[in-house]
Amino acid sequence: MPTATAIINLDIEGPTISRHLYGHFAEHLGRCVYGGFWVGEDSPVPNEGGIRLDVVAALRALDIPNLRWPGGCFADEYHWRDGVGPREQRPRMVNTHWGNVEENNHFGTHEFMALCELLGAEPYISGNVGSGTVREMSEWVEYLTRDGDSPMVRLRKENGREEPWRVKYWGIGNETWGCGGNMRAEYSADLARQYATYCRDHGDNKLYRIASGASDADYKWTETLMQQISCFGCEATPKNFFQGISVHYYTLSGPWEAKGSATEFDAEDHYRTMLSAHRIDRILTGHSTVMDVYDPGRTVGLVLDEWGTWWDVEPGTDPGFLFQQNTLRDALVASTHFDVFHRHAARLHMANIAQTVNVLQAMLLTDGDALVLTPTYHVFEMNKGHQDATSLPVHLRGEGTRRTVGDAELETVSASASVKDGTVLISLSNLDAEEPAEVTLDLRGGRLGEPAARILTADKLQAHNTPEAATAVSPTAFDGVSVTAGGLRLTLPPHSFVTVQAPLD
Ligand code: AHR
Repeated sequence: MPTATAIINLDIEGPTISRHLYGHFAEHLGRCVYGGFWVGEDSPVPNEGGIRLDVVAALRALDIPNLRWPGGCFADEYHWRDGVGPREQRPRMVNTHWGNVEENNHFGTHEFMALCELLGAEPYISGNVGSGTVREMSEWVEYLTRDGDSPMVRLRKENGREEPWRVKYWGIGNETWGCGGNMRAEYSADLARQYATYCRDHGDNKLYRIASGASDADYKWTETLMQQISCFGCEATPKNFFQGISVHYYTLSGPWEAKGSATEFDAEDHYRTMLSAHRIDRILTGHSTVMDVYDPGRTVGLVLDEWGTWWDVEPGTDPGFLFQQNTLRDALVASTHFDVFHRHAARLHMANIAQTVNVLQAMLLTDGDALVLTPTYHVFEMNKGHQDATSLPVHLRGEGTRRTVGDAELETVSASASVKDGTVLISLSNLDAEEPAEVTLDLRGGRLGEPAARILTADKLQAHNTPEAATAVSPTAFDGVSVTAGGLRLTLPPHSFVTVQAPLD
């Protein structure tokens, strides 16, 4: 049987794992907002002010830290003034990116902020650079966050909200290299400086401005942005126009033109997917390395505000709605991403899976009044103890745990660990489709008390949840952990994700 040893130093503290690495994304795309989060006040589906309560309850159980909205590509054709005021009087528009469907603007600023309040999550608003104006974005910030008396404050109050909201995370455009305006990096960087200038801090509301960043391994884009805010090699004080830079990376099993089915795939497709998921490590390393040159003190955050799997849409569904099923394979993509995120916690400030409900690698799938928790949801839930915890370095050595995939090598065991409030949480994935893996946890610099473990697995990688079989893939208690002289030992079944939690002795 393949074996692996994970050396975990309980007394060496790594950086804090920001809870925002467990962030989310909701775009006006397909059934994410309409039908997913929003059903309207007259719906028979239980709701509060139009917001689905089953969705809120499920997400609250994940302690979701933030929600990015309204896009995505949609953000750069969204005009916020169309989404405030009496709902029936709101102008309509065509959502040209996603299905060419009519958008009635019933879910707008007030509805989004109410949703965040219900979720207990911080809002992350993506402003329109591609087809908007500096003034429009500046006024949106004023509308949301200014106190006292001003034109936008008066408008907000007319629309029923007295107090300003608090908004920290603010996106300056989205994918300006593509759907957000097809710009060159240099032009986009100049616009980011210009827009950021007029996104004011009103009162004590301090914005964390996120410039639209690179796709995948486009390190040149990141460098162009970093050059705007640093003063590498000169005397003057650098200006922090923006506090974060985004990057997007999606996991595919093959070329963009042939993404393949979410549920019908073989072991080779699975391994190619895992290789693609592992690539996030190199990509984050690349962007961080460029950022370190210009910002060695790591004051600027890297924000992976879109990540996840992207498959062909489910047969019979609108190709513009990006609705896909979610299997155990997706769960393992998520669990390995989190191991990588934890290792990059010093620079990675936020990550947002795309997208929360009914789109791409979703947490939740709805069908009328039915709600299904996906395997990916369960990874977020099992891992939530890592939020705001101190990362612990893990050194992994495998014997027979590598597989050759094309001309690359895939390490099939993945792990990460953290400590919070005296409790250690260790996450372990076995990506192998057929073989179990025996893992020895060699614990150094401390001892652990009685461990408790949980497992997420199923008889096959293609297993998924539906309204008819809602718990086909769901976590159960795992009693396979034994205590050894130097730590713990367990055997991970093929295609499984296990969390082990234990108090520090
Ligand atoms: O998440 C779906 C789309 O993927 C987003 O709208 C866009 O930013 C990205 O290309």
